Amino acid sequence: MLRLGVNIDHIATLRQARYRGLDHGEPCPVDAVRQAEAAGAHGITAHLREDRRHILDRDIWAIRETVSTRLNFEMANTPEMIDIALRLKPDAVCIVPENRAEVTTEGGLNVVVQAGAIADTATELNKAGIEVSLFIDPDPAQIEASVRTGSPFIELHTGAYSEAYDDEAKRATELQRLTKAAEQAKTLGIEVNAGHGLNYKNTRGILAVPHLNELNIGHSIVSRAVTVGLGPAVREMLGLIDDSPPNG
Ligand code: PXP
Repeated sequence: MLRLGVNIDHIATLRQARYRGLDHGEPCPVDAVRQAEAAGAHGITAHLREDRRHILDRDIWAIRETVSTRLNFEMANTPEMIDIALRLKPDAVCIVPENRAEVTTEGGLNVVVQAGAIADTATELNKAGIEVSLFIDPDPAQIEASVRTGSPFIELHTGAYSEAYDDEAKRATELQRLTKAAEQAKTLGIEVNAGHGLNYKNTRGILAVPHLNELNIGHSIVSRAVTVGLGPAVREMLGLIDDSPPNG
């Protein structure tokens, strides 16, 4: 069964647009956790960025207390974040690149050049019982390097696919890259998640990629929630990704 992880960062983005620097505000990420889980989300994802632009420290601890499915903690590979992860004990950590100037995570992690540092972090987190995933582009060299770090999961960056979606030829090329990457990862014994830029229009297309375990989707669900509510927005996405056989 393909799982849906709901990324709630942008619930906090909206709150910070009005309540930055205050110890209260709306909308509340913890309420979002409850509503997304009640609607059937299989997991919750939150990214604590170095600049704390959306999720704050107080949020991540409250989210940890509230999540009853699985918490996937997105973080940069820094000593500060490793320390937080070891105390927070999320079910999974997804290591992402972080660049102060970006609006959202842009490219994938360059595991080829940072393999040693990432392997050290993966070993520490794995030892603490936290599943480690690396957010990478669908690139054969990045997948090989990811396997060498001892991370049991990768998350394939679907941003290029999402951007190419309206151009049939480019979309086919990106789907082919994702398919090859997923096949390579599975052959090398690593599990495959995917995410970034997936929405109500392009998510069904991604189901053609084999071996997917989980999709992590944030912006489109939070955007839809503004008009229909978070529960209905999550249920609609779950309906799109339901790959179970009819009556099965
Ligand atoms: N996966 C990772 C690793 C991300 O960094 C993000 C963006 O925070 C997402 C998935 C979700 O992307 P989007 O908000 O575009 O659905």
